[in-house]
Amino acid sequence: MDRIPRPAELNHFVATFGSIFSLQSGPLPIYAPLAAPGGLPITARQPCRLLLFFWGSLELYENTDALAVVRALRPDEPITLLRPHAATRAARFFVEKFQGKSLYAVKANPSPALLETLWEAGITHYDVASLGEVRLVNKFLPDAKLCFMHPVKSERAIAQAYHTHGVRTFSLDSHDELDKIVRATTKDGVAATDLELCVRIRVSSEHAKLSLASKFGADPSEIADLLVATRQVADALGICFHVGSQAMTPTAYSEAMEHVRAAIVEASVTVDIVDVGGGFPSCYPGMEPPPLESYFDVIHRTFEDLPISYSAELWCEPGRALCAEYASLLVKVEKRRGSELFINDGAYGSLFDAAHIGWRFPVALQRSDTSIGTQMAEFSFYGPTCDDMDHMAGPFILPDDVQAGDYIEVGMLGAYGCAMRTEFNGFGETETVVVEDEPMASLYAPVPANDSGNVVRFEKRSAH
Ligand SMILES: Cc1ncc(COP(=O)(O)O)c(C=O)c1O
Repeated sequence: MDRIPRPAELNHFVATFGSIFSLQSGPLPIYAPLAAPGGLPITARQPCRLLLFFWGSLELYENTDALAVVRALRPDEPITLLRPHAATRAARFFVEKFQGKSLYAVKANPSPALLETLWEAGITHYDVASLGEVRLVNKFLPDAKLCFMHPVKSERAIAQAYHTHGVRTFSLDSHDELDKIVRATTKDGVAATDLELCVRIRVSSEHAKLSLASKFGADPSEIADLLVATRQVADALGICFHVGSQAMTPTAYSEAMEHVRAAIVEASVTVDIVDVGGGFPSCYPGMEPPPLESYFDVIHRTFEDLPISYSAELWCEPGRALCAEYASLLVKVEKRRGSELFINDGAYGSLFDAAHIGWRFPVALQRSDTSIGTQMAEFSFYGPTCDDMDHMAGPFILPDDVQAGDYIEVGMLGAYGCAMRTEFNGFGETETVVVEDEPMASLYAPVPANDSGNVVRFEKRSAH
């Protein structure tokens, strides 16, 4: 215990020197604070120097995990635990095994530290959906290729993306959007000749946990016309789709590829890019997908069978699969009322999906001082705001002696968890710590089996 800096010292350090820090000792923690003192943006690497400088006299921990953070900090605010090694492993998996380009869907988690991690792991293309995301990625990864894959954009956003930020790739699902892109990229009466335009077609979300089938995508009856019109103004023509998020079977992709085939045949156009979108799953309690390789196998096989030229490119746009394992959350129990736990993060924080779509995330009690009961029980959570809606039904399975003052790690929040956080009701502040242990579940590495029902198990896993 002597080696642990006292919480007051740590809190002072955090308050003074930014929002992300690391308790690691081993290899240099590459990714650390996002904001410098005074809120100035700084690159993800600089804070490491701050860290080493100010922590020079403090003995740091090896094998840092959630429990070490509890012991060191006993934090009153939620702490985001980052696992850059997990994001790197996921990125390497896509880079090495997907036979095409993998565009990271920035919306899943736009953290600059994560962007840099993915870039260093070989992800060079980024799916951006707004001018804000264009600017963000351009700022932190100036050499990245940006693809503006939101099918409905403002003309101003298209013009700025094209003329100011060098974006050449856009998606669309209507003639109106095509006209908009042409207008916005024309300069001095001269139309752009370097556009890569991807027509988004509507496909079913029936195999996915979150539907993306209603809002976007050209109807089958319009696709041929739209492809022909787009071909006339595009340097490269693509077809893209999204099978819905957290697609639970590769069949989602084979069925979508049949729609791509039908569209190409009907329109009789040369297609240069087939973009199979996102939807690649991660693993959560009750949602254990088959290995990702089986998704890639289906996509590779169906791509090979399409009536396209040898030079046509295959793309995908994973969001969740690249970053779900990147982050978890350490929350404090403020009150227990029977099987309801009042915790300090919730529906307006990182637990949006747990509240609004009843998603169950893996949980683990992180208690440092006394033994943990072995009897398990089901709990629901209330978040910190005054809203009844700030409720996560779960059930979350935890030792039945969990009590106020305890800490719980909620896993697999790297995708669409941290990204959705708000400051509603004055909450939303979190500190961030880099930890070294494995995520609570993984599609890329073995995770120890656990009988609690919170942690996902796999029959067969590839070691990456
Ligand atoms: C156009 C587009 N591409 C990719 C993604 C990422 O999807 P996922 O996180 O399911 O991989 C999304 C998510 O909404 C999207 O809208």
